[in-house]
Amino acid sequence: MSHSPLSRPTAVITGASSGIGAAFANQLAAEGFRLILVARNQEKLRQLQEHLRQQYQAESEIMIADLSDTGQTRQLAEKIAGLENLEYMINNAGFGLGKRFPNADVEAETNMIRVHCEATVRLSHAAVQAMRPHKKGYIINVASMAAFLTGPGAADYCATKAFIRSFSHSIQADIQEHGIRVQALCPGFVRTNFHFAPTMFGSDVSGIPDFLWLKSDRVVRGSLRSLRRHRLRVTYIPSLRYKLAYYLITGPLGCLLIPLFGVRLKR
Ligand SMILES: NC(=O)c1ccc[n+]([C@@H]2O[C@H](COP(=O)([O-])OP(=O)(O)OC[C@H]3O[C@@H](n4cnc5c(N)ncnc54)[C@H](OP(=O)(O)O)[C@@H]3O)[C@@H](O)[C@H]2O)c1
Repeated sequence: MSHSPLSRPTAVITGASSGIGAAFANQLAAEGFRLILVARNQEKLRQLQEHLRQQYQAESEIMIADLSDTGQTRQLAEKIAGLENLEYMINNAGFGLGKRFPNADVEAETNMIRVHCEATVRLSHAAVQAMRPHKKGYIINVASMAAFLTGPGAADYCATKAFIRSFSHSIQADIQEHGIRVQALCPGFVRTNFHFAPTMFGSDVSGIPDFLWLKSDRVVRGSLRSLRRHRLRVTYIPSLRYKLAYYLITGPLGCLLIPLFGVRLKR
């Protein structure tokens, strides 16, 4: 792509400081996009920004925002709605909580609802305002295979990811006339910091077999390829193994497979 920096198409990525978000940043920087990198950890975003500049001569801007804070999400939404060349909005920020519901910190659980659901709604709406005049744009909402599951220690995780998937399908119907496409990205286990974050309280993923782990750069390449090629597809499940798992989980034998997805929780 050859664009002057000012006219460069822009991608906003939440949760860019790590894992899948950082992989989206690398892929889109390599394609010549200008990036707006959003997360709480300024140091990690600075390192990523420097890496993207050196590796791809990419132009990027850092925005520190805690998306569990409605005021900060609103401010970010205002900025996004006013962008002139927004082409990609990637609602990726998220986290897990490794406690069973009776022992859960209810503040953390409701923070999850704000990060996964409220921020996705507000930032998708803002992105549509920016994309609509150009009749072009892509919104990727990162859900999970958990969107199809329910399970112990994941009440709000499964519920919020199901929300993200359902929401994405519904808004696709509303915004396709504006030339905007939406994807609900539903990966299985991806090797990132996710499972080792303090919010997981030392939950043990060592029992998950190697073949179930995906690499974030492959998840991202598949997501972008699917979004650009398949006009009618909203839910995208990376890798054949998880596509098969989807048919098994949602079929009559699903209950036999749930233990495969089990993470051993500290109570
Ligand atoms: N890894 C998996 O197995 C897997 C599977 C399916 C779906 N997913 C989903 O993929 C997405 C990315 O996760 P990941 O695997 O890449 O995990 P990760 O490496 O832990 O990255 C999570 C990102 O979300 C950001 N984040 C978390 N809470 C935030 C908040 N309150 N405000 C702003 N940013 C926040 C983090 O940045 P800061 O800490 O700097 O704020 C970080 O950049 C999540 O939505 C997750 O649910 C992951």
